[in-house]
Formats: sequence, structure tokens, C-alpha cells
Amino acid sequence: MSSNTAIKKAAIEPVSSAFDLLCDDIAADKSISHRCAMFSLLSDKPSTIHNFLEGEDTLNSLKIAEQLGAVVSKEGNTFRIAPPALLSEAEDVLDCGNAGTGMRLYCGLLSGVEGLFVLTGDRYLRHRPMNRVVKPLRSIGAKIDGREEGNLAPLCIRGGKLQAFRYESPIDSAQVKSALILAALRADGTSYYRESLLSRDHTERMLRGMGATVKTIEEQGSENQGWIAIEPLKAPLQPLELTVPADPSSAFFFAVAAAIVPESRVVIKSVTLNPTRIEAYKILERMGAAIDYMEKENIYEPIGDITIAYSGRLKPVVVEENIAWLIDELPALSIAMAVAEGKSTVRNAKELRVKESDRIATVVKGLEACGIVTDEFEDGYHVTGGVIHQATIDSHGDHRIAMSFAVAGLLSGMEIEDTACIDTSFPNFFEILSQMTGVSI
Ligand code: S3P
Repeated sequence: MSSNTAIKKAAIEPVSSAFDLLCDDIAADKSISHRCAMFSLLSDKPSTIHNFLEGEDTLNSLKIAEQLGAVVSKEGNTFRIAPPALLSEAEDVLDCGNAGTGMRLYCGLLSGVEGLFVLTGDRYLRHRPMNRVVKPLRSIGAKIDGREEGNLAPLCIRGGKLQAFRYESPIDSAQVKSALILAALRADGTSYYRESLLSRDHTERMLRGMGATVKTIEEQGSENQGWIAIEPLKAPLQPLELTVPADPSSAFFFAVAAAIVPESRVVIKSVTLNPTRIEAYKILERMGAAIDYMEKENIYEPIGDITIAYSGRLKPVVVEENIAWLIDELPALSIAMAVAEGKSTVRNAKELRVKESDRIATVVKGLEACGIVTDEFEDGYHVTGGVIHQATIDSHGDHRIAMSFAVAGLLSGMEIEDTACIDTSFPNFFEILSQMTGVSI
């Protein structure tokens, strides 16, 4: 096995034997870490965050918090984020790097703050659609401009007064929902937001925990639907105090590894068991993997351990519902589909086309390179399970594509090009993968 992190390529060799691994160092949750950096600005007291994800994306959100006036200090694995008395203009542009979450949530948060803010990102983020937040924010009075009439970053925000709103989102997106909730906290009355399937709800849970009034109005007969009512802030919120759990989306690469390498098992420690985040594990279970969940505590959300064990060749599956709950795991899930006994289908997943890469195209192209038969359509793909062959995979700068095909390499060996992107969310990914193969990558 060889790797050269300087040129950011990795060569994965196949595992020589089964593994039984306890993973207590999976990267901390990216969504929650972003929110810790941002929401600490809504308090007047310092927040204390243990196990904040030190990946590029979330460190960029933290740096932006500093540019907006927060004082950040670190002791061991604990960050203390002391907010400024008043949020004010930053002297320089605010660089979100590769993070759509960073850009879209800051867009909502800053729209209601007096001052001029310029949000930018790397060459991938500067080509991802921002209209999904810019349009609804403009409709409540936000002054935002950017390339393509505000659809592409850099985005220039002239923060000011916002009107209360009633908005029914055409997409189930936690980023859009969170941006609008953050704007609603500074609007001139109670705002209402609705999506057709509840997307990940860390924003609602954390803001409620900090004392904000963010209420879900349950609709009869539909557990995961309803309007969210958001009251504007009358006073600063309570600070955050939490240990960020492990990220189930990052852990899922190793869940797939255990499900496809005969006689293997992994135990993922202290991961969020939030129902909007573990749907991919349910699908892997439907495919035949043996999965066990053990809830241990509840800090803003349920947290516990997940055990995943190989249980014979996987069965094919159709994935066409609850897509928002497994959108980030679909690339890794596709590797499981590629070795299943028959044809699997992904549908209603057009959102994949606007992630860090066009993930329908990059998954299909990568699988084809590995000798797997696929069929691409606008909102998904078919994967006919077979034998994965060694190939050279271009990640297209997308961390989840790089990590998914690295896991496929456990069966066949794999060359992955452009692995630098893995640092955005999971800096120690290869260390854990090396424990499975027994050779350092
Ligand atoms: C995220 C929401 C999801 C997800 C992204 C993180 C968040 O995006 O894909 O990785 O932290 O809110 P959408 O909600 O836009 O689908």
C-alpha cells in the first residue's frame, strides 16, 4: 500500500482478513459543529464546546465567528466561544471554504444584522446554487446580491430589517430551513416555515435548548410534517454547553465496510441517533446487515452506540422515500448496492446533483470504472450488484466520493485521486481505514 498525502492521492489495498473494530474516534458531527460556531453568536455568554469538529469546513465557520467579533480559545479538545456584545461588520470577506452549510446558514444569520458582509467559498462552493436561500430571504427584505443575480457566491449581504414570514419550502433542506429560522430570529414578528418532510432538525433542537421559541405545530396524521413557528429574539440566548457526538454520516463509511467485508464488525461509539440522521443504517439493515442501536444519553438529541456486522451477501434495495434523511450517505450506500445480489434503485434524489459534486454523475462514473453496471436518470440511478474491480477514481473534490470509493477498495484495492477534500469533514479517515487493512495509508 502506498499513499502520498502531499500530492493527495491514496492507494488502498484490499483487506487480508476480517476486522472487529471499536471506533471511538469518528469525526465529530459536522452539522452540529457548524451550528455551535454560529449559534454561540446568539448568546451574551461564552459557549463551551467539547469535541468540536476540527475539519476544514467547521473551522471556517469558527473563523467567521471570530471575524464577526467572537473570541475563540481552545484548551485540549474544548473550544470556548465568547460572543461579541454586538455583531458587527467584518473587515474582510468571510470564506466558507467548501461548506454549503456554512454559506447558507450564515446568509440567514447575517441578513438581519446591520452591516455589509461578503460570503465566499472555494471553486466548488462558488458554483453551487444559493437561490434556494437568497430568494426567500430577499422576499422578507434581505438585501443580497451575487453573480447570476444572487445565485452564485461571492454573495454580498447588506443586513437590515426583516419582515416576519410564512414560507412553504419547495425543497426538504435543513440548510434552507436553518437559514430561514436564523433570519426569523431577527424578524419583526412570528414567522412560520414548513417543509414536506422534516429535514435534519439540529437547528430547532439546539435553539430550543438555548431558550429560543421555535415550536413545531404537529399536523394530524403526519408525524414528520408541520409548520414551525419562530418568535423573534427578545434577549440573548443561553450559551451552548455540549459534547459534539460522532457524525453518523462519517461513521457510515465504516458501517458499509463492516457490511461488505465477510465476518467483520464495527462498533461506532457516541454517535447521534437523531432519527433524521440514521435512515441509511435502516436501509443497510433492510439489505441484510446486522445492526444494533443502543441509546445512552440525550444532549439536545439522542446519542449512543451503533454496532454493524456482516451477515452474508447483501440484498438489493429500492431507496425512494425519506431522501433528506440519507442524502449524505447515498454515495457510501451505493458501494453496498454495488456488491448486493441484484439490482438496486435510487429515486427522488435530484438534490444529489447540487452537493459538493454532482453525486449522481460521480457515483455512476465511479461505479462504472469499477466494472459495475449502472443506469443513470435525472433523479437517481440503478446499480446492478456484481464484483468491484480495482480502478482509479477521481473524487472531483468531493469528500464523500473519495471516502466511499476508498471503502470499496477494501474489497478490490483502489486508487483515489484528490483526497485532500477528506479534510473538510473527516481528517482522521485514513487512520481508521488503516486499522481495518492493517497497513498505514
Ligand atoms: C446539512 C444539511 C444537508 C446535508 C449537508 C449538511 C446541514 O443539506 O446534505 O451535508 O448541516 O444542515 P440540505 O439540507 O441542503 O440537503
